[in-house]
Parts: sequence; C-alpha cells; structure tokens
Amino acid sequence: MENILEVQNIQTFIGQYHILQGVSVSVPKGSITALLGRNGAGKTTTLKSILGLTPPREGKVIFEGNEIQGIPSFDIARLGIGFVPEHRAIFRDLSVEENLKIAERNKGDYARKEEMLFSLFPDLKRLITLSGANLSGGQQQMLAIARALVADNRLLLIDEPSEGLAPVIIENMMTAIRQLSAESTIVLVEQNFLVASQLAEYYVIIEEGRSVRAGKMADLVNDPDTIHRYLGAA
Ligand SMILES: Nc1ncnc2c1ncn2[C@@H]1O[C@H](COP(=O)(O)OP(=O)(O)OP(=O)(O)O)[C@@H](O)[C@H]1O
Ligand SMILES: [Mg+2]
Repeated sequence: MENILEVQNIQTFIGQYHILQGVSVSVPKGSITALLGRNGAGKTTTLKSILGLTPPREGKVIFEGNEIQGIPSFDIARLGIGFVPEHRAIFRDLSVEENLKIAERNKGDYARKEEMLFSLFPDLKRLITLSGANLSGGQQQMLAIARALVADNRLLLIDEPSEGLAPVIIENMMTAIRQLSAESTIVLVEQNFLVASQLAEYYVIIEEGRSVRAGKMADLVNDPDTIHRYLGAA
C-alpha cells in the first residue's frame, strides 16, 4: 500500500512551547485518515506542521516520496496540498465567487473547476454573488472546502469541518467529503467521533502532542476502552 504522506516523529515548537513531541502519521493514498484527540492535543498543530506554517524542528514530513519539512509553506501548498482551516476561514467581505477566484494557484483554475465545484455544492451556485458574511455557518463551511478544491490538490487537510453545524448540514458536508475522497486523499481532524468514524478508513489518535494509537477505523469503533481513554466518548 502506497502512502501519499508520511509524518515521521515530528517535534514542533511554538515559541518556547514544545507542542508536538513525537507525532507520526501514515496516510495511504486515496484514503480518508482521521486525526482524533481531545481539545489541545495537537491536531491542528500537526496539520500546520505538515504545511510548514509551524515547521517541525525535528522529524520528517514525506509527501509523495519527497521530504518537505523545512520548505516554505507557500511552496508546500504548490506541491498540491490544500488546507481547510478551522473556523471556516473565508473572506467575509468578498462574494462567494471572489472567494473562489482568489483561491486560484494558476490562472484559469477556477474556470476549470467551476462545474465540479457546483455539482458538489449546488447551494454555492445559487449564492454566488452574496458576500461571505451573509452565508450561514454551513454555507461558509462548504465555501471553505470549495476554496481548497479550486487548485489541483492531491492531498486535502480539513480541520474540524463539522464544528458548530446542525446535524442536517453535517450530513451534507459528509456527503461532499465522501465524493471528494474519490479524487483526493483526505486528512480530517474531527472532534465528532460519529462523523469521523463514518467517514474515515484510518485513524491516528494524538494525546498531549504525541501520536499514541493508529490503525483502521473499523477496529477502533469496536474498541470502546480506547475510545473512552483517549477521546472521552464511548
Ligand atoms: N500560538 C500558540 N501559542 C502557544 N501555545 C499554542 C499556540 N497554538 C497552540 N498552542 C497550544 O498547543 C497545544 C495544541 O494545540 P492545537 O491547536 O494543535 O490542538 P488541537 O488538538 O487542534 O485542539 P482543538 O481540538 O481545541 O482544536 C495546545 O495546548 C495549545 O494551547
Ligand atoms: Mg484544532
């Protein structure tokens, strides 16, 4: 099985704080892999370390066979890694269409992807002239994901897509992520275990800055002790 991404024992500092103290993540190509763990465990920092936003001081990040730790984050993105940050980071003052257009990496990206984006998120087409601020939480999340799809990305890192969304909207978002996974490998940070367990094939649990468990989601769902110990849910 080929891994599109290998994070090997990374150590990341933010200021003087030693936040990641040994995180390893293997992501099989074509999979959805969930990063799980309690608040403050280091999930977001793991994504940012992969992207070079908080570069790891030690350890390796290997994308498609090449070491990318230490490369500027702008160049890492250009390799084909898309990021959907927490809290639906969209431009509230820009229209839906402007939000999508400025996500281009190469000229013409948006035009090439338009049809795919609107078949995945039909609502966005209807809302195309509205400003980001006028979208509902669910619509903003769809736009945030759509932005990461404008450029050609073979790996998508999605942080907490279900956060703060109503159940019916979460269902729509899950459907979109499932469709996406046909085209792109996905690393998903997700606090909602039910959502993560229904979407992901593989999981990694992060606890206090360390990856402590990893495997197939199908095994984790049958392991209530591990779920209770690390995720505080059963
Ligand atoms: N800029 C920062 N300065 C200092 N500490 C930080 C900073 N960013 C994150 N941390 C700390 O790093 C640890 C990991 O944070 P991180 O955001 O990666 O956790 P997380 O697993 O994504 O949590 P959550 O579920 O709350 O999003 C936390 O203890 C957090 O307080
Ligand atoms: Mg986080």
